[in-house]
Amino acid sequence: MIHQVPFHRPSIGEEEEREVLEVLRSGWITTGPKAKRFEREFAAYVGARHALAVAHCTGALHLALFALGIGPGDEVITTPFTFTATAEAIAYLGARPVFVDIEPQTLNIDLDKVEALLASGKLARPRALLPVHFAGQACDMERVIAIARRYGLKTVEDAAHATGAAVKLNGRGMVRIGTIGDVTCFSFYATKNITCAEGGIATTEDDRLAHKIAVASLHGMNRDAWKRYSSSGSWYYEIDDLGFKYNLSDVHAAIGLAQLRRVEEFQRKRTEIAKAYTEAFLCEPALEPPFARPDVVHAWHLYVLRLRTERLRIHRNKFVELLRERGVGVSVHCIPLNYMRVYQTKYGYRPGDFPVAEDVYSRCLSLPIYPAMTDRDVNYVIDTVLDVTRQNLR
Ligand SMILES: Cc1ncc(COP(=O)(O)O)c(C=O)c1O
Repeated sequence: MIHQVPFHRPSIGEEEEREVLEVLRSGWITTGPKAKRFEREFAAYVGARHALAVAHCTGALHLALFALGIGPGDEVITTPFTFTATAEAIAYLGARPVFVDIEPQTLNIDLDKVEALLASGKLARPRALLPVHFAGQACDMERVIAIARRYGLKTVEDAAHATGAAVKLNGRGMVRIGTIGDVTCFSFYATKNITCAEGGIATTEDDRLAHKIAVASLHGMNRDAWKRYSSSGSWYYEIDDLGFKYNLSDVHAAIGLAQLRRVEEFQRKRTEIAKAYTEAFLCEPALEPPFARPDVVHAWHLYVLRLRTERLRIHRNKFVELLRERGVGVSVHCIPLNYMRVYQTKYGYRPGDFPVAEDVYSRCLSLPIYPAMTDRDVNYVIDTVLDVTRQNLR
């Protein structure tokens, strides 16, 4: 039987089981003390003033833009090389996602192109910049903030991939992602660097934004409405504004609390795997390992390998198929959003609009990278990738 390495396997152990069981037996299973503790501990971990736990990163992005007052007719600049959630959250508010192509090295939004677009005066109502820290590698936040200041834009960071990531800032040294933009949104989806099964958090330094996000995350009720069924809470609540239903349950938060205690260990393991892959693949000219900036802490949520297809007889899809046949779980990140019908019909994007993102997409694949991988798994992935490459050289 061939060895199998799934694309992802979560690291769930006794600590997660104990935390969840405690919630299940406590008599209170939805948003409550565990979610509040998760907020405090996550805020302490990234060094943020506020952390608001929510059901998912998509909700966190929606709430962040909502709290910043983004609305119909506004334009929010972001990358097409992301999961649909990033742009979907913009569209929820009737705003327009303005895609700007990515840099070929980091695969993050190209800030030269962002500046050129803003300077061109072609945008009608630019209101916010929404960079994605792709694969867990931070964008140049010094520059993001400078551009935002110059053009009066708000900043929302999509840090779905970036729990544990950090970036060097002038005067502040190495700073964890989560305290830089107006709001930063993290994902704790099943495959993310830490997980709640489903979950997300919005962090901010701004008291007013924190309050708005907290209230809007639970139907516009006041901040402590989750206590309304308990003896310490009041049954009466006010609704001043429409909100959403994005609260995080204590069952989910309990998993996150246990995971947060292991975040450094997880980060170390991901970094080791990335290093082993890159060392092995650098020896093979048909493979292009991901570029890692020296001035960041990369969270290594994804390991995105590019094929130099001019050196191969097969294309990416066949390469993926061959790896899968040999038991290596592989995925592709990301399918550029201008390829998706909804962004074509709603906003007029077309294939060909973002040559860098489209070129990367045509020859990239994501390899398994997660703490539950054994040394044997890592070596098997390396050997299989090299083998498939060498059997298919031109
Ligand atoms: C870049 C990016 N943003 C946002 C999300 C949405 O995260 P969630 O599933 O927690 O809503 C994802 C999910 O994969 C993502 O990759």
